[in-house]
Amino acid sequence: MVRWLIPLLAILSLSHAVKREDFKTCEQSSFCKRHRSITDSTFRVQIDETNEAIRKRYVPEIALDSQYKKQPFSSVDISAVEASIVTGDKNAKLIVTFDPFLVNVLNSHGELVSQLNREGKLKVEEFRKKEEGKRSFRDSKPFGSSSVGVDISFVGFKTAFGLPEHADSFALRTTVGNTDPYRLYNLDVFEYEINNPMALYVAIPYILAHRSNRSVGALWFNAAETWIDTSSSASSKGIFRNVLDKVTGSAENIPHFDAHFISESGLVDVFFFVGPTLRDVQRQNAKVTGVTPLPPIFSIAYHQCRWNYNDEQDVAKVNAGFDEWDIPMDVIWLDIEHTDGKKYFTWDQNKFGHAKEMIDNVASKGRKMVTIIDPHIKKDDGYYVYKDAKDKGLFVKKADGTTDFEGHCWPGSSEYLDFWHPETRAYWKDQFSFSRYVGSTPDLFTWNDMNEPSVFSGPEITMDKDAIHYGGIEHREVHNMYGMMYHSATFEGQLARTGGKDRPFILTRSGFVGTQRTAAIWTGDNTAEWGHLEISVPMLLSLSVSGAPFVGADVGGFFGNPDEQLLTRWYQAGAYQPFFRAHAHIDTRRREPWLMSESTRLAIRSAIRARYALLPYWYTLFQEHTVNGIPPMRPIFYGFPSEEQHFEEQKQWLLGDALLVRPVLEKDTYNVMVNLPFGENGDERWYDWETGVEQRAGQIYVDAPIEATPVFQRGGTIVPTWQRIRRASILMLDDPLTLFVALDSTKSAKGEVYLDDGKTHDYREGKFIHTQFHYRAETPSKSVFESKVLGGNRDAKNWVERIQIRGIDQAPKTVEVIRLSDPTEVLEFSHDRDRKVLTIRNPAALLTQSFTVNLFF
Ligand code: NOJ
Repeated sequence: MVRWLIPLLAILSLSHAVKREDFKTCEQSSFCKRHRSITDSTFRVQIDETNEAIRKRYVPEIALDSQYKKQPFSSVDISAVEASIVTGDKNAKLIVTFDPFLVNVLNSHGELVSQLNREGKLKVEEFRKKEEGKRSFRDSKPFGSSSVGVDISFVGFKTAFGLPEHADSFALRTTVGNTDPYRLYNLDVFEYEINNPMALYVAIPYILAHRSNRSVGALWFNAAETWIDTSSSASSKGIFRNVLDKVTGSAENIPHFDAHFISESGLVDVFFFVGPTLRDVQRQNAKVTGVTPLPPIFSIAYHQCRWNYNDEQDVAKVNAGFDEWDIPMDVIWLDIEHTDGKKYFTWDQNKFGHAKEMIDNVASKGRKMVTIIDPHIKKDDGYYVYKDAKDKGLFVKKADGTTDFEGHCWPGSSEYLDFWHPETRAYWKDQFSFSRYVGSTPDLFTWNDMNEPSVFSGPEITMDKDAIHYGGIEHREVHNMYGMMYHSATFEGQLARTGGKDRPFILTRSGFVGTQRTAAIWTGDNTAEWGHLEISVPMLLSLSVSGAPFVGADVGGFFGNPDEQLLTRWYQAGAYQPFFRAHAHIDTRRREPWLMSESTRLAIRSAIRARYALLPYWYTLFQEHTVNGIPPMRPIFYGFPSEEQHFEEQKQWLLGDALLVRPVLEKDTYNVMVNLPFGENGDERWYDWETGVEQRAGQIYVDAPIEATPVFQRGGTIVPTWQRIRRASILMLDDPLTLFVALDSTKSAKGEVYLDDGKTHDYREGKFIHTQFHYRAETPSKSVFESKVLGGNRDAKNWVERIQIRGIDQAPKTVEVIRLSDPTEVLEFSHDRDRKVLTIRNPAALLTQSFTVNLFF
């Protein structure tokens, strides 16, 4: 028998709010906090079996942010036929009717935005004891079938996104009647195909539905194998029953996007993030599932990887090559061949016998290294990790619950650590200490691969579903979160090795809800083909909108040999994606940029340098993400939520508020169509990022010769950059800034910059600098640029060395800077009448002190 539990309202406050030392935050004000915490409209609906069930259904609670708290409702009204449950957020409420069972979800405008079980697909198969004598297949299914399923409708919405990870379109398709449902079952797929709903390495069962200025999100909180059938259609009003008048005004037919979630096990457990706006939904999701903490700055710069860099000499050569060719690079990666027989935490003594010196050498240039650490543990009594784990009983067990589970992976016969066991987590954490991981240093970081987990000898190349984890949990119940349990334990280890001082960096292939709190994700084994370059954009956007912002694809393509054109175009796209790493399969030709023709080398060099110039902007975007959950890489509709023609866009994207990127993703293409949004009032202005020349909004064709990446700056924004490109990001940290000010139709613009030491957690003690910029026309004859310190007490050296204003017709007569301590000074400037660009030279003002630049016309 199934009964419904009272839905729970989930609310909490953000864990990583900015510390603005001089003023109270809402968190510090008890009344503000009380009010605020009851206004974030999030509902959680759980439907469980009665207590007679022979087994408790698994709920992956551990995947939620540690700050997640359940809160009481402001009112619950239950009659014989329905219950009405209200949050503190005015009208945001659930109306649950009992017969037929239906949950209506209303946002704070009182609009019906979602329904659970409108189509009556709620189905729960109850646990049963296996019948005696029944034939046993490889999956022994000791408790029978325990699947759950229900339909969720997004009412009033035609378009929806999410459900990563699939190599498929950004806007979710209609699968019903067309294809298999989307599948979420973390798998190591060899040479994955594009444009289909097959499962890949990550499972985030989250859908974001969007229509003009309205959004809603639903998280199907289940870690078992899951299939999702989707369809977009319209129905007459009648079908939505009585609550509907408020939904969509007078329209006769109402669009709805329907998703039928079907999981092999677990609970019916759904979070509704009811908006009403996109930013609200993103924040509500972030409050429940967490955000990516501020990454160390090297990790958002450029990474150089291949399977494999062969030995210490090879590493030294690659390191030197980047300097020789004057190409910035932050991290050199070592794949599995660096180990002694694929025993992680060890080094092949012939090739990497001086690991510490090697890392120190790389680090002496301001760079870092990463080694791969996989979760399969070689079955070898001479391997200390194996021996320890065996002695302590830390491996996943077979269906009998006592024998260790074995499978094949890179080292041959292997066993798999059980990260549900608290002792495994503690043990794993210790392995990252500098004394345990011999040869490691604080400049070495971690790549967690094969953590779906990949089991070459297993069904679908993964672990048997009837394998047993700590506490009697069946692998089937938790499969999709194995990778997350693994990389989160790695994160704990990296954090502990410096006593919590330095920020960890982990890259993972497999992920689940909440992965973003402890790892960046890359999209696994793509191929050096144009289609794979193109699909990387929707794949990264899907992850971004689903709460995982630190994402990237192997630049160049993992399998195969990209020609120089494809390689160049891939670098250009990757330079504007959050995680920027070149990687290649062991059987491919070497691809370091200087092995290419001169023109390719130069084009790649300028793509990487463009990334470094924008690092202050990227860093500021990652900081913003920690506050409100919004990802740095955004679909166009994040900036233009009412412009329907951009909803399904998957070739161009926004980087923060300010930049629109449309890299060339197609072969032999040197002129691309860019669709620059008009904006709500039709007066949006755009500027070519390179030249500063204004472009009209709408569809335009732009030249994109092989060395060019079409990027545009939105009017009304200010972008902070570093123009003195050095060999690694950390060396640029104190550099002066050049600000690009793009005027909107009211001749004003706004922006921010956030900087800190790029490495430690000292920012939590206020050691950061957060400065806001604002340009506006005060009178027809005077405009003002203001730099205002928002917070932080880092003794930063950065000063503003140039301000370029875009979209300015007329040259000013004089420009002066007013600083706190120094006398007012007249500044040099030049005005390019054709490009309408004004360049103000050297205001020489520190970011740590507010200052004003006056322009007199
Ligand atoms: C699979 C990963 O996806 C790939 O990036 C890596 O190079 C190989 N494993 C070898 O470790």
